[in-house]
Amino acid sequence: MKFFVDTADTAEIKALAASGLLDGVTTNPSLIAKSGRKILDVVAEICALVEGPVSAEVAATDYDGMMREAAVLRAIASNVTVKLPLTPDGLRACKALTGEGVMTNVTLCFSSAQALLAAKAGATFVSPFVGRLDDIGQDGMELIADIMQIFGNYAALTTEVLVASIRHPIHLIQAAKMGAHVATLPPAVLRQLYHHPLTDKGLAGFLADWAKTGQTIAPPAGA
Ligand code: E4P
Repeated sequence: MKFFVDTADTAEIKALAASGLLDGVTTNPSLIAKSGRKILDVVAEICALVEGPVSAEVAATDYDGMMREAAVLRAIASNVTVKLPLTPDGLRACKALTGEGVMTNVTLCFSSAQALLAAKAGATFVSPFVGRLDDIGQDGMELIADIMQIFGNYAALTTEVLVASIRHPIHLIQAAKMGAHVATLPPAVLRQLYHHPLTDKGLAGFLADWAKTGQTIAPPAGA
């Protein structure tokens, strides 16, 4: 399973990329607004920090406008993934960009019918938003299960399911059990994955016992 981080905060991305475990980044207009920076500057900086796909979202809502903005975004770096809303114009732009060999991420997916449309449009990724469905009392993870089942029926569908709007590690684990290809995680959730109280307790115990030995791990004398 690929791990993307869902932020436009380049300091966070730099710190998380140092782990070597980060496979990509997703941004959206709200995250760019939160960064307080120009989209072209932020996306260029992120693309220099991370080798994998970096989603940058168009703001136009009509096909021609989306294609114009996509041309600007894709010129930033070869790992830019053009993010498009799940609308008729967005899917038309997805199909056209896919034909030109551009990576695409169809976003704001809330039903399996929409996911199927994105796959038929040749999207590289489709982003179902699990947290926002949970927020309105629908089961976000049930949508992931449905999409995985449907995509699994058709070997020709190559679109990867990018689980988005993740709120906590349980969403991630459920998505992984279902075989979802990618999860995009807020930085705080990504950091949460590392922690377990028994790891901290166990390490403290090992270090205390090690200190009692008076040893250090170093090359043998004369080596
Ligand atoms: C995905 O690409 C979106 O940027 C993101 O996951 C939305 O998450 P939110 O519902 O927490 O805003």
